Amino acid sequence: MSFQDKKVFITGAARGIGQATALAFAKAGAVVGVNDINPVGIDKTIDLIADAGGKAMPYMADIANKLSLQTVMYDFIRDAGGIDILINNAAIEATSDFLKTDEFEWNRTMDVNLKGAFLATQTAARAMKDSGGGTVINVASTAGQMRGLANRVAYVTSKAGLIGLTKAIAEELAPFNIRVNAVCPGIIQTAPIEQLMRNTDLQTKWEQDIPQSKLGQPEDVAAMILFLASDAAHYITGQAINVDGGKVMR
Ligand SMILES: NC(=O)c1ccc[n+]([C@@H]2O[C@H](COP(=O)([O-])OP(=O)(O)OC[C@H]3O[C@@H](n4cnc5c(N)ncnc54)[C@H](O)[C@@H]3O)[C@@H](O)[C@H]2O)c1
Repeated sequence: MSFQDKKVFITGAARGIGQATALAFAKAGAVVGVNDINPVGIDKTIDLIADAGGKAMPYMADIANKLSLQTVMYDFIRDAGGIDILINNAAIEATSDFLKTDEFEWNRTMDVNLKGAFLATQTAARAMKDSGGGTVINVASTAGQMRGLANRVAYVTSKAGLIGLTKAIAEELAPFNIRVNAVCPGIIQTAPIEQLMRNTDLQTKWEQDIPQSKLGQPEDVAAMILFLASDAAHYITGQAINVDGGKVMR
């Protein structure tokens, strides 16, 4: 799959799924804008891409802050000469009992996971409309569409909201040749998941609940993101596609 000279902006690309996606796009020839709030992680992603012979540029910003986000996105659009693909990947996942979840946790989760994607998509879509089209991929979660998940009320609600946002925007942007889809990872072996599993038998328990009997890797999600961003997916918009080893079947 070639993305030669395509301009791709990825939020939360300092590690995990965002980093794997940034590397995959860069290896396929894209110019990648690496956003995160973690400057050390941004440098790591940029180094990985440089080592692979790719092109990437750093854009540190908190995506929940409209001014910071728009500033770095405009910088990227100017530096790269446009934007073809936006990946809304950055998110936070707090765990707390519903009865103890406070307003700060709710607001911060919505601001990062949902408002950040809304603002980034609006900024990108204005430029895409002017240049004849583009595509947006939101990294949601199977948590946004399964039977429920305890102790994560803000996270689950934000991811269900992100799937709703995907459909609403896909409908409205289709006339401008802009496709919008969501990818819903199941359980993917990244830092937050490793932390949850440490010194527990959670991995075994989770794998028993997955038809393919294994956790996913960041590269598995990146592969679906690249497919949805490619011309091969030109007739796909407004979808939320699970990458989860069969954990959720609809
Ligand atoms: N790992 C999983 O099992 C899993 C499952 C379902 C969905 N997801 C989703 O996949 C995406 C990536 O997950 P991951 O496991 O790689 O997570 P991660 O925590 O490893 O990476 C998330 C990145 O987002 C960045 N970030 C957080 N808040 C930010 C902000 N305000 N502005 C800019 N950057 C910010 C973090 O610094 C981090 O680098 C998330 O949207 C997550 O909800 C992950």
